[in-house]
Amino acid sequence: MIKFSNKTFHIYNDDVSYIIKILDNNHLGQLYFGKAIRDRESFDHLLVEKGTNLAPCLFEGNLDFSLEVIKQEYPSYGTGDYRDPAYQVTSKNGSSITDLGYKSHVIKKGKRSIKGLPSTYGENVDTLEINLEDELIGLEVTLRYHVFSNISAIIRSVEFKNIGQETLKIDRAMSSSLDLYDANFEMITLDGAWARERHINSGMLRKGIQSISSSRGTSSAMHNPFIALKRPNTTEHIGEVYGFALIYSGNFLAQVEVDAYDVTRVLLGINPFEFQWRLRPDEIFNTPESVMVYSDKGLNGMSQNFHNLFRNNLMRGKYKNKTRPIVINNWEATYFDFTEESILKIAKTAKEAGIELFVLDDGWFGKRDNDSTSLGDWSVYLKKLPHGIKGLAEKINRLGLSFGLWFEPEMVNEISNLYKEHPDYVIQTPGRNRSYGRNQYVLDFSREEVVVCIFKKMCATIDTANIAYIKWDMNRNITEAFSYSLEATCQKEFFHRYILGVYSLYEKLLARFPDILFESCASGGARFDAGMLYYAPQAWTSDDTDAIERLHIQYGSSMVYPIISMGSHVAAVPNHQVERITSLKMRADVAYFGTFGYELDLNKVSPTDLEQVKGQIAFFKKYREIIQLGDFYRLTQGNFYSWLVVSPNKKTAILGYYKILASPNPSIKKINLVGLDANFKYSCNGKSYFGDELMNVGMILETEFTGLMQAESFKGKYTPGTDKGDFTSQIYVFQAV
Ligand code: DGJ
Repeated sequence: MIKFSNKTFHIYNDDVSYIIKILDNNHLGQLYFGKAIRDRESFDHLLVEKGTNLAPCLFEGNLDFSLEVIKQEYPSYGTGDYRDPAYQVTSKNGSSITDLGYKSHVIKKGKRSIKGLPSTYGENVDTLEINLEDELIGLEVTLRYHVFSNISAIIRSVEFKNIGQETLKIDRAMSSSLDLYDANFEMITLDGAWARERHINSGMLRKGIQSISSSRGTSSAMHNPFIALKRPNTTEHIGEVYGFALIYSGNFLAQVEVDAYDVTRVLLGINPFEFQWRLRPDEIFNTPESVMVYSDKGLNGMSQNFHNLFRNNLMRGKYKNKTRPIVINNWEATYFDFTEESILKIAKTAKEAGIELFVLDDGWFGKRDNDSTSLGDWSVYLKKLPHGIKGLAEKINRLGLSFGLWFEPEMVNEISNLYKEHPDYVIQTPGRNRSYGRNQYVLDFSREEVVVCIFKKMCATIDTANIAYIKWDMNRNITEAFSYSLEATCQKEFFHRYILGVYSLYEKLLARFPDILFESCASGGARFDAGMLYYAPQAWTSDDTDAIERLHIQYGSSMVYPIISMGSHVAAVPNHQVERITSLKMRADVAYFGTFGYELDLNKVSPTDLEQVKGQIAFFKKYREIIQLGDFYRLTQGNFYSWLVVSPNKKTAILGYYKILASPNPSIKKINLVGLDANFKYSCNGKSYFGDELMNVGMILETEFTGLMQAESFKGKYTPGTDKGDFTSQIYVFQAV
């Protein structure tokens, strides 16, 4: 619902309210964002104006109306507000003082997509567009707001239009700006590095600016384009939290500023660092969408809003809301060292175990025996695969598996035909050294001809074979950013144009191959963001396949991203990233909570382990619909991780419980479940429990080993516990009877 009365907009549904008022200076003020409140004629009493004798004020004699204090909707710098602004536009005379006043608005059903950018979509959504204008410089800015009837969130984006005669420069264009009344929040971010992405960090807000960002060309493994502000006592299940996610895969900024009056300003958008956009007369610039979730049901409430929005209103195509095939990927099994024969051997055993899709990873093209050559040459390496991709795919299909293929479309090696033909396609700054990264260079995807060239090369292979899945990798960050196609004054458009190029290649491929399932990847999870989910409904969560490390990564990722989007494989031990040994059971128990698959050669496991793998696959097939499409709850983290999925009808729930290190003589472990039907009677491992018992009393878990004196006289006198040693896991299935 969106109402307008008394110069005030109220955007709301059953869960959330967002209130904006046209202020006395004709700018927009922010009155409220939070739990739904009833609509009424006027919300003027919520407007906070506060005089101080030194703050600059707009109206002579009225010290109360100062932009230094007023909560604003899309603030600018230079007219009394000294906090970081939402936007900056420089006009011909070099000034960036602007004056965006309310001009008109439109309230409508439905929502539009944003040309060239990922965006949410759906039927059950209302839109408010507020048009603001700065007549002096000929700038029109449209603030867009969307509210879905069933999601506790407001989605925002901004459009800049030059309606004047002179060229303007956009120096900063955030997707959303929010001024919250107070600063009593803990800020949560998802940070890391290669192989340890999206670990949860949190800390209380303090005065001044705190932020995360990327300037690498991808959203990055270091910081995810997401922040949450939660009340100090908010838990996973109760309490207030605001979550902010940007639907964008390039350089971003997520910034929180606590001002002198404890107002908290949250900015989210394209990173203004190294950004500028030339806007000539009649030209338009659109920001990506920003999603602002409000939850009073703790962090899980926030996450479920993100999950539902992304699953239903962001992911597209055949695999939207559809369970995903169980994969076998050969990367950790063979790296570059494979032949058609060895691949078929892996695939055959995988099929016998129940796997559904074989994915051929890096090394199938050009003359690629290692990472120094052939990126860009997307035709088969006949020495390894004499019957081509077509021949291999046919054989894999005959085994009863579908076939998937790895590409790294944005890259080129110096040793490649593509580089020989088009050395200028590489991102490089004239006269400067070119930095190396994994022996490869990034192609200038800000140029359409480069995107089209790669599209054609990919099609030439994809067209020949029955390809059901593509893993799109991206293994280095951008350095020496520059494009030969951009004028000197427009070089700072590069990073945004680059990601638009990536999106346009995805769009071309999706249009031509609508049935292919795309999995995004960037050295693992360096581009796991909401923008990518619009094109690729799943992402390789991390190159770290260790079960313990995956607990941190998957737990953190689930803050924003649905389980169905998280690529998760069982790999060999000792683990290739950390050399840790965990049981086959634990590796699967962790990997179940994702897309699920294997990344090892099943011919190399013992017959007993192979039987166990068959059992795991059968288990996953039985429950994947619930795991991938149900409601996911994080329960505990630390030495003991646990999480739960509950089917939409609440009849089935699956609990995953994981212990990292054992301790001597431990306490009894009990977990309170959530989201069940209190009145259902659930059976689990031969016992029955009512939903209210499981949620209020809790589930008492397998007893941990308590130590066993070896002396004969102690034997048989007590039960020492069955959960023994480090790195253990338990899966419980609760079925309503
Ligand atoms: C990085 C990816 O994350 C891995 O899964 C694998 O595809 C390699 N690249 C291949 O080079």
